[in-house]
Amino acid sequence: MKFFIDTANLDQIKEAEDLGILDGVTTNPSLMAKEGISGANNILQHYVNICKIVDGPVSAEVIATDFDGMVKEGDNLAELHPNIVVKVPMTKDGIKAIKYFSTKGIKTNCTLIFSAGQALIAAKAGATYVSPFIGRLDDISVSGVGLIEQIRLIFDNYMFDTEILAASVRHPMHIIECAEIGADVMTGPLSAILALINHPLTDSGLAKFLADYNKLNG
Ligand code: G3P
Repeated sequence: MKFFIDTANLDQIKEAEDLGILDGVTTNPSLMAKEGISGANNILQHYVNICKIVDGPVSAEVIATDFDGMVKEGDNLAELHPNIVVKVPMTKDGIKAIKYFSTKGIKTNCTLIFSAGQALIAAKAGATYVSPFIGRLDDISVSGVGLIEQIRLIFDNYMFDTEILAASVRHPMHIIECAEIGADVMTGPLSAILALINHPLTDSGLAKFLADYNKLNG
């Protein structure tokens, strides 16, 4: 499973990259705003800065909601760097835009997916990735991981190339469950990625090893 980090924070992206396990980055307008990035030029430059840190797909979301606007914005974003993936919302115009980008060979990430039907139609349009928001489904008492399972079955039935990018991941169990089901990619916060490393028995075991070593060598 590929690991993407879901942030526009350059320090966190660098920290994840330094671990050596980072495959890509996803951003969205909320995450860009959280970092205080505003103004068209600053936003574009920020995507370029992210691409300089990580050698992998970087999702950059269009703001336009109409087909013409999405196409214009997406074409500009795609020109920024070869690793840019144009992130398009799951709407009727979004599906048309994904088809347009796919025909042009521009990679896309269809975002705000909350049902299997949405994932299916995005795959039919040629999306490179679909992003089911599992945390937000859990928030309304619907199993986010259950949706990943459903989409996995559908994509496998028809051998769609579209990758399942589990998004709105909030904690390490989301990552583990997505890996068990076979999500192609997960995108989550640095905290969820780092939490995979920790185990109290590792900590106490290491402390004991060092204490025993120091008894004779200390
Ligand atoms: O990847 C989508 C993500 O940014 C949304 O996460 O935690 O706001 O639901 P969250």
